Amino acid sequence: MNPKQIAGEKAASYIKDGMNVGLGTGSTSFFAIQKIGDRVKNEGLKLKCIATSNESEKLARELNIPIYGFDEIKELDITIDGADEVDKDFNLIKGGGGALLREKIIAYITKHYIIIVDESKVAETLGKFHLPVEVVQFGWQRTFDHLQNLGCVPTLRQKNNQPFITDNGNYILDCDFKKIENPKSLEAAIHEIPGVVEIGLFIDRTNTLIVGHSDGEVEIFEKTK
Ligand code: 5RP
Repeated sequence: MNPKQIAGEKAASYIKDGMNVGLGTGSTSFFAIQKIGDRVKNEGLKLKCIATSNESEKLARELNIPIYGFDEIKELDITIDGADEVDKDFNLIKGGGGALLREKIIAYITKHYIIIVDESKVAETLGKFHLPVEVVQFGWQRTFDHLQNLGCVPTLRQKNNQPFITDNGNYILDCDFKKIENPKSLEAAIHEIPGVVEIGLFIDRTNTLIVGHSDGEVEIFEKTK
């Protein structure tokens, strides 16, 4: 079985009737959303959901999952989302799918933040995956320079030979830091750069980490605060 599917479906079992739920983005979240759709259909779960991307919103609507706006829900009981890399302290790199801004807004209004990954995403230290930084289009080259001065190699993300544009109309600079020894101080340093909208580091957010394995095993780790 697909390890992303194992993790996604397991996470969907945490959802209870009446909850407000955040829906993540990406190929692992896809399986969670599918399963939530099944549960809405078969168990009649009444949920209020917010999607972290236009893509996830479209999928949820196709499955008759009720979708609300960011202005309509103040707090979420559970969010289920994927990650590009997760370290031993459950800190994350996210934004491989370009949805980091909405994902972070959602993460900060969520009581129980569940991260679903396959085994390949688990790392001792963050940084192998290039850190996505969402920046405004205006003057992006100067934002690029400041990021470079922090010791990384940034690349303007492309799609079909054009700059990739996020759901919020911004660009993404993927920053190769090799190793991120102190994610918290790096996040603070990047936030000081003019033109930066949001950063794909998610620190101290994850409550539950669900790791799917290709042999069918699923591991669940709880963060003790
Ligand atoms: C999107 C994300 C995704 O959660 C992340 O890229 C993981 O994606 P996948 O589940 O497809 O590996 O942060 O912005």
